[in-house]
Amino acid sequence: MNLIWFILSLFIYSGLPSSFSKNVSSRPAIVNIGALFTFNSTIGRVAKIAIEEAVKDVNSNSSILHGTKLVVTMHDSNCSGFLGMVEALQFMETDIVAIIGPQSSVVAHIISHITNELRVPLLSFGATDPTLSSLQFPFFVRTTQSDLYQMTAVAEVVNHYGWKDVIAIFIDDDYGRSGVSALDDKLAERRCKISYKAGISPVYGVNRGDIMDLLIKVALMESRIIVLHVNPDAGFMVLSVAQYLGMMGNGYVWIATDWLSSVLDSAAPLPSDTMDSMQGVLVLRQHTADSDRKKAFLSRWRKLTGGSLGLHSYGLYAYDSVWLVAHAIDAFFNKGGVISFSNDSRLQSMGSDNLHLDAMSIFDDGALLLQNILQSNLVGLTGPIKFNTDGSLILPAYDIINVVGSGFRRVGYWSNYSGLSVVPPEMLYARPPNRSIANQQLYSVIWPGETSLKPRGWVFPNNGKQLRIGVPNRVSFREFVSEVRGTDIFQGFCIDVFIAAVNLLPYAVPYRFISFGDGHENPSYTKLVNLITTGVSMMLQI
Ligand SMILES: *[C@@H]1O[C@H](CO)[C@@H](O)[C@H](O)[C@H]1NC(C)=O
Ligand SMILES: *[C@@H]1O[C@H](CO)[C@@H](O)[C@H](O)[C@H]1NC(C)=O
Ligand SMILES: *[C@@H]1O[C@H](CO)[C@@H](O)[C@H](O)[C@H]1NC(C)=O
Ligand SMILES: *[C@@H]1O[C@H](CO)[C@@H](O)[C@H](O)[C@H]1NC(C)=O
Ligand SMILES: *[C@@H]1O[C@H](CO)[C@@H](O)[C@H](O)[C@H]1NC(C)=O
Ligand SMILES: *[C@@H]1O[C@H](CO)[C@@H](O)[C@H](O)[C@H]1NC(C)=O
Ligand SMILES: *[C@@H]1O[C@H](CO)[C@@H](O)[C@H](O)[C@H]1NC(C)=O
Repeated sequence: MNLIWFILSLFIYSGLPSSFSKNVSSRPAIVNIGALFTFNSTIGRVAKIAIEEAVKDVNSNSSILHGTKLVVTMHDSNCSGFLGMVEALQFMETDIVAIIGPQSSVVAHIISHITNELRVPLLSFGATDPTLSSLQFPFFVRTTQSDLYQMTAVAEVVNHYGWKDVIAIFIDDDYGRSGVSALDDKLAERRCKISYKAGISPVYGVNRGDIMDLLIKVALMESRIIVLHVNPDAGFMVLSVAQYLGMMGNGYVWIATDWLSSVLDSAAPLPSDTMDSMQGVLVLRQHTADSDRKKAFLSRWRKLTGGSLGLHSYGLYAYDSVWLVAHAIDAFFNKGGVISFSNDSRLQSMGSDNLHLDAMSIFDDGALLLQNILQSNLVGLTGPIKFNTDGSLILPAYDIINVVGSGFRRVGYWSNYSGLSVVPPEMLYARPPNRSIANQQLYSVIWPGETSLKPRGWVFPNNGKQLRIGVPNRVSFREFVSEVRGTDIFQGFCIDVFIAAVNLLPYAVPYRFISFGDGHENPSYTKLVNLITTGVSMMLQI
């Protein structure tokens, strides 16, 4: 009788006998999480403090984890995919339930394989590579915006100014390549393109001579619109060499992705020669709405760092990632989640060796924690934190800033919701989305060379193929087309119309007139037309 009553009560208490075991364990005193990023980097220096502050705040607020304390262990991946991997493996031996990070897309690619197997969610505040969102990496959660959106913003800026053709300078790693590939797609949707891609090696460090060679090739191109998607070390080298080569002057357009705004926000004031080398550059920055909470945190930050280190968007995302995981852990406990680990039978079967891979364990309820992370709905320093069904943060938006003098000014915003605007995206969300051309606006930009005149965006290339144009050397109707005697210059009404039309094109068409006929009688048009089919001339001027 007692036994039956006991079994019945199991059913009543837990619904299903199998999940009874989950509810026996109460909330543990501590929960371990890891953090993995490069301490000595633009993002890492800020993220380290932001994560420490967030952990303090979470632990001092008993309404978040209800008595359980969050313990964070930090590892320095020092920009290395290899170290990142080894450290992630070490984390897996220490019963952590989630990892804040990694910061870099390269490290994210490598350790996503490990976290998939061991069911430990990654909350990456810095890895922006769009390809990480793929179904291949279900345990990778991006707590910042994907470069897919940053590149959409760049493409819309390019299109907004009527440019057709851009050059991409990028770091040749997962971050750089995937970003440029997204840019390629987004430009193509707007009938624009990348005409030249110049990759910088991520392995051997940046070398002034190599950058010089690279930029000389860029200078020979037709396009004058350069998108710079690199890391700060390479980026500042490129800007400095570009200035030396006269490529920061009139006619050029430089669009830098958010690597530059992170430096401008965290390391200001920069040395004046560094500022000189980037006058007129357009820069993207992840947009986070202004709020009282953000303001309060900013003033706390200033006290904390004594003004020696500014706060950038990535720091805000790092802070929010800790809150996000804390709330998700609370929800996880509410749903009966238990923190327990088991050995990976696949690793066990490989046998024990000096690497002690068999010490890594699977987080049994990892999928439940992941589910709670993706169902989050809270407001952080960066604004509302919520994920779409595809796992991306809602409402991607960027600030568009223009480097001028010793600082910068915002010329507008880009939001996935309504495109380019001069009003903050938060104000647009209350209205229906409006991507009509009339609604796409930016304030005026001071371009390189201190001009507010929009650069044309192209020049006649020094290395381009010329269009050969057959021109009849006529004796009659010479006011329409004629060769100036004794020269190879052509003139006349038809020539004027042609030149005016070519000048209206938004790209360069280098051409050469080729005289046809002996000048004593009108040449045969039939023969002239035949020259096109034989490839001698490519076009006719009649
Ligand atoms: C575990 O217990 C909580 C209340 O303490 C309850 O809300 C939850 O549904 C239970 N979970 C399971 C899986 O039974
Ligand atoms: C941090 O990195 C810079 C170069 O980016 C280097 O000069 C400096 O020595 C490094 N600091 C530490 C503590 O490793
Ligand atoms: C504690 O956390 C709750 C839930 O996130 C929040 O509403 C409250 O403002 C926090 N309290 C403090 C003092 O930060
Ligand atoms: C980081 O890596 C660089 C070279 O890649 C090395 O010089 C430096 O000492 C490393 N820093 C740390 C803290 O390991
Ligand atoms: C997991 O493997 C380690 C090392 O092989 C061993 O010490 C530990 O007892 C195992 N744990 C379980 C739950 O089997
Ligand atoms: C961005 O906008 C597109 C089209 O308007 C929409 O399909 C997509 O879900 C949006 N992305 C996010 C993260 O909101
Ligand atoms: C979109 O914006 C333009 C210009 O501001 C306005 O004329 C138009 O009525 C708007 N369309 C909608 C659907 O709101």
